[in-house]
Amino acid sequence: MKPDAPNFDSLAHLYRWMEYLSFGSMLERCRFHFLSQCTQARHALTLGDGDGRFTARLLSANPTVQVDAVDASGAMLAALRQRACSSPDAEARLRTMQADLRRFTPDGKEYDLVVSHFFLDCLTNNDVSSLVERLMPALAENAIWVVSEFSIPEKGLRRATGRMLIRSLYFAFAIMTRLRVRRIPDYAKVFRGHGFHRLEYAMYLGGMLTAELWERRTG
Ligand SMILES: C[S@@+](CC[C@H](N)C(=O)[O-])C[C@H]1O[C@@H](n2cnc3c(N)ncnc32)[C@H](O)[C@@H]1O
Repeated sequence: MKPDAPNFDSLAHLYRWMEYLSFGSMLERCRFHFLSQCTQARHALTLGDGDGRFTARLLSANPTVQVDAVDASGAMLAALRQRACSSPDAEARLRTMQADLRRFTPDGKEYDLVVSHFFLDCLTNNDVSSLVERLMPALAENAIWVVSEFSIPEKGLRRATGRMLIRSLYFAFAIMTRLRVRRIPDYAKVFRGHGFHRLEYAMYLGGMLTAELWERRTG
């Protein structure tokens, strides 16, 4: 049996400030890097979007998109709804679902956009693999997947710094949320194994943060 999902409830109102204090605007820049590529999407699925900063921006940048936002934390989803519903008619275009994404199966929409910002790092390799398998039948042929993640630079002092940073973040989140994962999963390998190609990427903070745009290619 899987242990419970980490519990981010107590961080819902602090998370944004903790982020600004530790990384300034860097995570925010990473999150919104590919927003302009999302303005044509019709059905979006946001995974673990926390307090909803991306979902809110997506709803206002793309006035026709329908968004399904899934997160395990009720408090995060409440913050997301509050933030997102400031956009005109957003309430009608947003559906929130409280679920553990290690078990969640979508109910059949053809999503042409999936978004995961700093969420895949809450999963193991097996969790990512099983999540992608469960999502595949609900994805449109050329669906895009926008990812933001922490990353360990390939060499030098930055590599050592990146490893330390990630280790300390996992340590802190283990205490605050009971997150049990300890390393960033190899989601790129899983994506490639399911026919996704990385179209573009950008690095922030000397390669310790990455923004990526993946596309599913069929045939
Ligand atoms: C580190 S926060 C990232 C939040 C947001 N995406 C961002 O960019 O700031 C991780 C989010 O994923 C959610 N989460 C973590 N594990 C989850 C799981 N197994 N199922 C569903 N949501 C999960 C948490 O509740 C939290 O809202």
